[in-house]
Amino acid sequence: MLYPSLIGSFSRRPDSGDSPVPEDGENPSPMARSNTETLDSEHLRTLLAGLAHDATRFRFDVAPNPCVGAAVVSGTEVIARGFHQVWGDAHAEVNALLEAERTGTDKSTWDALVVTLEPCSSTGKTPPCVERILASGIKTVVIGELDPDPRHRGKGLELLRQAGIEVLLLEGEAPLSAVAPHFLSWIDNERVRRPRPWTIAKWAQTRSGQMVPPQGVGGGRWISGPESLKEVQLLRGRVDAIVTGVGTILADDPRFTVRPPGNLSKPPMRVVLDSHLRTPPDATILKPAGENAAGGAVHILCVGGAPGERHRALEAAGAHVHAMHVATDDGVSLRDVQTWLHEQGAQRILLEAGPRLLAHYLTSGFVDQVRIYSGAVNGGEGPSMAGWITRLKLIARIQRECHEDAVLEAFVEHERSD
Ligand SMILES: NC(=O)c1ccc[n+]([C@@H]2O[C@H](COP(=O)([O-])OP(=O)(O)OC[C@H]3O[C@@H](n4cnc5c(N)ncnc54)[C@H](OP(=O)(O)O)[C@@H]3O)[C@@H](O)[C@H]2O)c1
Repeated sequence: MLYPSLIGSFSRRPDSGDSPVPEDGENPSPMARSNTETLDSEHLRTLLAGLAHDATRFRFDVAPNPCVGAAVVSGTEVIARGFHQVWGDAHAEVNALLEAERTGTDKSTWDALVVTLEPCSSTGKTPPCVERILASGIKTVVIGELDPDPRHRGKGLELLRQAGIEVLLLEGEAPLSAVAPHFLSWIDNERVRRPRPWTIAKWAQTRSGQMVPPQGVGGGRWISGPESLKEVQLLRGRVDAIVTGVGTILADDPRFTVRPPGNLSKPPMRVVLDSHLRTPPDATILKPAGENAAGGAVHILCVGGAPGERHRALEAAGAHVHAMHVATDDGVSLRDVQTWLHEQGAQRILLEAGPRLLAHYLTSGFVDQVRIYSGAVNGGEGPSMAGWITRLKLIARIQRECHEDAVLEAFVEHERSD
């Protein structure tokens, strides 16, 4: 344990008029002298377990972040709860504090902020939660687990403590290994050493697992229903890039734009893996997004030696063309692609490819999360994905319905290097 002194260590705000901050080395009994005397620890443990359980509803929406729940309590009463619900949006602590403010309760009655994971102390997509907690004036923070990331572990607690906040660590009720198992491999040394974006593979398949419907069905393209397509628009609005292969461009001539109910304000860049620049310069993806739609910049990733005239024609049509290494097995090197995406600032990406590129991504171990729509369509063309679903080690797997479609969501477990 890195920070044994944090467990049950209660310091008082210097200006509170309460018991003074204990001298270093003084070892007060965990619940002594604490404002948490009014907060029964069994009650806190039950609350932490409930928050952790409810937070898992959002685990696929916030990954690679861990799902987190928080509550503001007064005695044994929960005034407000908050969760990290959408990747890139407010964290649980911030949502719980905002909700508590909305209730209009007197802040002096807020006894503690209870949160399943140590608050963040660094700026990511949002400002550090520690700052927001300090600004709230709350005096006690109860935490269910330390941040397991060695780069951050204990820092949030230390900052809170230094600012005079009481900190109670009640481990065991919200273990990340159960709540957000994917996060532990995401902060694995080897993965951190070779940064790449969190990759979500989304595909639609027929009952037989095929990704192309039989002739005459869905215009040769659509397998899932309109409600599923709306979900995909939401997902597109919550990633930094959409990646596809030239096979999909040639077969479907898609736009890969974001449309409502997706967030149009920051559309993801669109990336096409196309070794020999077969993308037609008049492809729809290179045309304006159109009304009520938004499309990010189009990047075409080819291999060295692709024909110069195609390169020039695609750039004239508005694409950005980049040369990558050739993969040893098929097409553009996916290691290069993932590194390049990370260098462009892409932290969370969506793979919307046909069976060939999808299979290559899965084989390479670059897929972290899957969302699979199984439509009410029999038969189909091309290879079946059914074998993949059996072979992959899927964890935290859920099966749900989206109107007429069955949806499977899960994280893909990779080998850890330590
Ligand atoms: N159901 C769904 O969710 C869904 C989604 C998308 C597409 N589709 C369907 O899939 C069909 C197209 O299938 P597809 O397999 O040809 O499309 P794809 O996987 O999107 O594209 C494959 C092409 O990408 C290029 N590529 C470049 N680097 C690659 C790499 N490292 N690994 C693999 N490919 C790489 C290759 O062409 P080069 O060798 O020329 O580079 C390859 O032929 C269409 O009928 C479309 O409707 C279905």
